Amino acid sequence: MPHWDPYDKSIVANPYPAYRELRDEAPVYRNEQLDVWALTRYEDVLAAHLDPVTYSSAMGVTIEGTDAGAPYLISKDPPFHSWHRKIVSRVFTPRRIGDLEPFIRARAGALLDAGLVDGRIDVVEDFSIRLPLDVISELVGIPEEHREVIHLESDLVADAMGRMDLEAVGVHIEAMRAVLRAQVVERRRNPGDDVISLLIQSPVVEDDGTETFLDDDELSFRFIELAFAGHETVAKLIANAVVALAWYPDQRRQLVADPSLLPGAVEEMLRWDPPSHYQGRWTTRPVELHGVTIPQDSRVVLITAAATHDERVFADPELFDIHRRVDRHVSFGFGIHLCLGAALARLEMRIAFEELLGRLPDFELAEEGIERAYSSNVRGLSHLPIHAASDLPVGAY
Ligand code: HEM
Repeated sequence: MPHWDPYDKSIVANPYPAYRELRDEAPVYRNEQLDVWALTRYEDVLAAHLDPVTYSSAMGVTIEGTDAGAPYLISKDPPFHSWHRKIVSRVFTPRRIGDLEPFIRARAGALLDAGLVDGRIDVVEDFSIRLPLDVISELVGIPEEHREVIHLESDLVADAMGRMDLEAVGVHIEAMRAVLRAQVVERRRNPGDDVISLLIQSPVVEDDGTETFLDDDELSFRFIELAFAGHETVAKLIANAVVALAWYPDQRRQLVADPSLLPGAVEEMLRWDPPSHYQGRWTTRPVELHGVTIPQDSRVVLITAAATHDERVFADPELFDIHRRVDRHVSFGFGIHLCLGAALARLEMRIAFEELLGRLPDFELAEEGIERAYSSNVRGLSHLPIHAASDLPVGAY
């Protein structure tokens, strides 16, 4: 009997065998205890992403549903979602993202140079957890002197989330918002060519043409949203991909020899072990699928990480292969909620690995100290010590 429970640590450590069983034997799976349904086949997950009327996001996108009603795009349905997505999209122009390249490269290099001691580094603590949040601060235009507070509060939010201490989560989000609100007040006084000024000046246009401008509170939430969406995801993907390159040294060598293979490799990294494993939805009508009826008002999770391992679409899905042509993964979601930061995430990944492999072309995972972070929907590590392979005693491999 197939079984999947995202709170079961033995499953979280490697959920892919459970996903395979679900795809093969229970493509419309129900976990009675958690009161949740799960879709795992690629075609079903894609179809659900493309039908936001049936599969609503408004009751939250986590199993717990604690994010229901939150002022984020991700947990809103049209028409509110479409009005607000239009203005947030204005932040992610190819020019603005491309302009971030020198910053990302310099920051990645500085973090690696500081973190690498005798050929050893904790990929998460010293590198991947720091880079994406600094990139978001740079994108948004948070001055350097406030970035450390954002880091600190963001770590505290993640820690409180891990303990499901929602009161503490609220306190630390408030502390982050205070920094952002102060920036908004400052940019109202002195507008510039930055993202905060852009959003201050961008009206939300409703279907009937009514125009309103975001107030300071709404603006601060727009930035918190970017910090949540683009921090843990990139941080976890970098570490998951480092594990892949340690397990497949031959492919790592190919990337070192020819970094132009990196953009393709990043797509495979996203497919092979994506950070965001599922997206939660809420049915607005009964859904009949594979002979099973999911009732109206049910929580359903679209397990994109299972979809990217569906052998009906991807041959040998468990194999990490940087030469695979991955043009159909759903690791950034799909449809109206398709990740707005996808281009930025791809850029960060490419640069992160250009800089990492440039300094540490031949590495191995440390034998001790690797720790997994447990959260029901983001899969990844909280510590990933690695070391230069030449560090090993002679004869170790
Ligand atoms: C590897 C990194 C990333 C992954 C795997 C990822 C994944 C996703 C997924 C799966 C969704 C859809 C959620 C749903 O349908 O419920 C999403 C939405 C979103 N992502 Fe990302 N993301 C990443 C990085 C980023 C970055 C760097 C940013 C911005 C700085 C960002 C901003 C957003 C936003 C704003 C949404 C909401 C879009 C909407 O609801 O319309 N993401 N992301």
